[in-house]
Amino acid sequence: MASSDPTERPAAEPDSGAAAPSAPIHSNGDSGAAAPADPNPGAASPANPVTAAPDPSDLPEEEARARAEELAREIRRHDHLYHVEGRPEISDGEYDRLFRELRALEEAHPELVTPDSPTQRVGVDPVASLPTVEHVAPMLSLDSTQDAAEVRRFDERIRKALDGGESEYVLEPKLDGISIELVYKEGRLARAVTRGNGREGEGVTENVRTIRSVPLLLRTESRPAPELLAVRGEILMSISAFEAFNQSLMEEGSEPYANPRNATSGAVRQLDSAITARRPLQCLAYDILHVEGTAFRTDMEGIQALEEWGFALPERVELVANVEAVEAYHAGFDGDRDELDYEIDGIVIKLNDLDDRSDLGSTSHHPRWALAWKFEPRKEVTRVEGIAVQVGRTGVLTPVALLRPVEVGGVTVSRATLHNREELARKDVREGDRVRVQRAGDVIPQVVEVVTEGADAERGPPFQMPELCPNCDTPVVEDGPFSRCPNRFGCSAQLKGRIVHFGSRRALDIEGLGEETAALLVDREMVKGPADLFDLEADQVEALPGFAEVSARKLVEAIAARRRTELARFLHGLGIPEVGATVARDLAHHFRSLDAFLAADREVLEAIPGIGPRMSEVITEFVSEERTRAAIDELALRMEALTVPEEPGAGGPLEGQTWVFTGGMEEMTRTEAKRRVEALGAKATSSVSGKTDVLVAGEGAGSKLEKARELEVEVLDEAEFLERLRELEG
Ligand code: IVH
Repeated sequence: MASSDPTERPAAEPDSGAAAPSAPIHSNGDSGAAAPADPNPGAASPANPVTAAPDPSDLPEEEARARAEELAREIRRHDHLYHVEGRPEISDGEYDRLFRELRALEEAHPELVTPDSPTQRVGVDPVASLPTVEHVAPMLSLDSTQDAAEVRRFDERIRKALDGGESEYVLEPKLDGISIELVYKEGRLARAVTRGNGREGEGVTENVRTIRSVPLLLRTESRPAPELLAVRGEILMSISAFEAFNQSLMEEGSEPYANPRNATSGAVRQLDSAITARRPLQCLAYDILHVEGTAFRTDMEGIQALEEWGFALPERVELVANVEAVEAYHAGFDGDRDELDYEIDGIVIKLNDLDDRSDLGSTSHHPRWALAWKFEPRKEVTRVEGIAVQVGRTGVLTPVALLRPVEVGGVTVSRATLHNREELARKDVREGDRVRVQRAGDVIPQVVEVVTEGADAERGPPFQMPELCPNCDTPVVEDGPFSRCPNRFGCSAQLKGRIVHFGSRRALDIEGLGEETAALLVDREMVKGPADLFDLEADQVEALPGFAEVSARKLVEAIAARRRTELARFLHGLGIPEVGATVARDLAHHFRSLDAFLAADREVLEAIPGIGPRMSEVITEFVSEERTRAAIDELALRMEALTVPEEPGAGGPLEGQTWVFTGGMEEMTRTEAKRRVEALGAKATSSVSGKTDVLVAGEGAGSKLEKARELEVEVLDEAEFLERLRELEG
């Protein structure tokens, strides 16, 4: 796997080595939004780059500050050029140099780190759960139709309500991503909240901060920042980035996502923002939910302001004067749909005049001044010739309809997913059925329904999911709507991916153990479980296609070198569901030995900060499954040592304590504050729970403070915290 250096510019999954994103989605010349004035009059031009980089620790405080500010400004400008405007001015190498210089400066002078620094997009610990947060203004949903006549009626209704006045519409693509509220206070990104039920959603600020097309600070060159701004937008993954990401998931043995939307939702709702940061997300803004300190007369003015403030906009935003133009716009997008690198499922029609909007008002669900005109999903009818069951890399059994080939929206489809046991039972799809097949943004086509008219005589019997894994004959277990083969390390469909994961960079880091080699080893039955890796002999490996004497010896040596491994890497390498590298490290530090970990029950696991009921359930289930346990025991026999390095701060006066920081502090940044308590042995997490020992509440502390009071957690204000630090640091 490639590095996950946060400076990596394409906001693409570094693990996949994905290339730069395709042309960013961006309003173009013929959109209704006028081009902004020179967005950056005073900034350094590319011909005159920010110059010279002396040793950061030598610089006097004032110079260091000036330089850090200059670098941050310059990096922000290049982020905007690259991620919003799609016209970078410098190479990735030059960008990296600026970024590294800023990071070095901040390391040498930690007091210079500001929350809005480009280095601080990723930087907090995983949380145990996402908080519920109320929206600044309700996030209504849109009324929608697929019917052109309905669109005409919408237009008539509006014109009538406006008393025969002109109705100008803003037209936009309807983006098929995750709706998000971005709140800016005095120009600073204060929070990001998913739509949720429209009134409140999940706080995903730390995750959204990692998306480079989301400004952390509004650009103010051509328009001052308002006191308060709530922007609505959509988070998306481009189709090309999605495909590369899915590919990388499959390579590490994980199940791919069905469509970009699901992958986006998963990424946005991560508990660990470092994971979100590695997902190739972008954010497009399309609506001002609420603004204080300035006002707009029309939607177009608001869109113009969004562009000037540095947001990326959807492409082809247009202002039109009548419903005929709406129809032309819809037809144009529908025709181009297959050529776009992102999913849209229709267009959105919005009245431009904001006073007219408030006159029209909203129902409890949706505004009367907007309508989504959806495209027909691409569907065709064909016959089911059989039903097969596939075993995925996580052991999930997926029923698949084998179809008489049919063309759906330009693609020939001969297989379609029936999703899982419950879905299959609900749709009651059987061999011989005529079914409607759909490609609705999904890579994998799906069976929508059985077309019942006629055909009954040809129906086969109801389909039953097999009781044994079709790949390894292990009895299948039911896991919610899914059926799963529990033979994680023995089932060859699962084993290949697990071997690759076991040897991956953040696990045992075995050079040369890639996808192809793992597949060969499993297919030739040279490896029937991960433990067998350690028994491989060089001459056996040499016999494999693509290997020679030296490469075979190297692989065997690389494996042998891992007989001593850090316990954290080993635990990560096991591929326990939900246990990534961070949790594995926490587990290793907590238990300090494999035996202690294996002996832990749910209660013990749940007492560990960062581990909740779901994770502890999955972990205990994993290690108690008989064949899985046998594979782990076999592995353990071959390991010489599983080590646990000392953490910085181990044995310190705060060892065993969990601290949470909230609100702003005057004297130091939260990052610095966390580093200081960690150096004293504490763990710093970001959400308050029963496991929290101390909450440090700075300026503007909110829900965390309330929760801490409720749970009777010790609360310190900044002065008390600094006092405590002085005592402890001596
Ligand atoms: S405007 C009240 N514009 O579609 C109107 N929504 O069911 C505010 N969506 O969840 C929404 N593209 O997130 C608007 N260009 C666009 C959009 C858009 C996608 C989403 C929106 C909402 C869903 C509507």
